[in-house]
Amino acid sequence: MEEIDCMKFVPKILGFLCNWCSYAGADLAGVSRIQYSPNIRIIRVMCSGRVDPIFIAEALSRNIDGVLVLGCHPGDCHYISGNYEAEIKMKMLKKLLKIIGFAERLQLDWVSAAEGNRFAQLVNKFNEHIENLGPNPVRNKKLKKKLQSDFDAIKSVLRDSRLRILVGRERKIINEGNAYNERIPIEKFEQILDDTIQNEFERHKILQIISENGKSVPEISKEIQLAPNNVLNHIVSLRQKGLVDLHELNEEIPLFISIKEDK
Ligand code: FES
Repeated sequence: MEEIDCMKFVPKILGFLCNWCSYAGADLAGVSRIQYSPNIRIIRVMCSGRVDPIFIAEALSRNIDGVLVLGCHPGDCHYISGNYEAEIKMKMLKKLLKIIGFAERLQLDWVSAAEGNRFAQLVNKFNEHIENLGPNPVRNKKLKKKLQSDFDAIKSVLRDSRLRILVGRERKIINEGNAYNERIPIEKFEQILDDTIQNEFERHKILQIISENGKSVPEISKEIQLAPNNVLNHIVSLRQKGLVDLHELNEEIPLFISIKEDK
């Protein structure tokens, strides 16, 4: 008798679809009776540019296995540049998610109102891709605590305006130049962005673990698995920004604590 695998993994997929193209494409797939994986839950948004990266980090931190963001094809956005905004925001988020091994669980793509078939194909392919990746590691009890803390750091990075400002100026810095009228080649900008994202993530991890109790550099280093000299550099930078203070000396070892920013 054929053995039935009762434990087959069925991914939980979340789809953000823009109202004017992709949602209409999904609707067309439905009325045309085109088959696609039923395990996608769709949230209709007015434009792909409306999808805040925090929505996606929140979903992935809550056991969603994969997130698909679909908008109008480039040049077709109802709000002119919403899909361009979505593209740069998703690129920034993917880089952040890559640090904790979740980048492959996010995909941005384009579907027009006439592309019911394309919508179904994209959903099926993404579902297959997530099946191959396996369940969201947040579901694993042993990994959950560490990953939740990583996602908390990611959400704080995303709430912070520093990274958003840099990402929002990408086009201007590459095409027109920075404040010193220097045009930055795209490869160099990518490198600056990668470094900034890594640094911001590490700084927010540090701020997170010294939010309640003062800790020394070696303690922080051990807790977030980062070399002590890197931790020290971040502490110096955070103190300059007024985000960290010296809490006390413990047998002459300085303990640092974060200073809460005014809401
Ligand atoms: S309206 Fe579809 S991406 Fe902006």
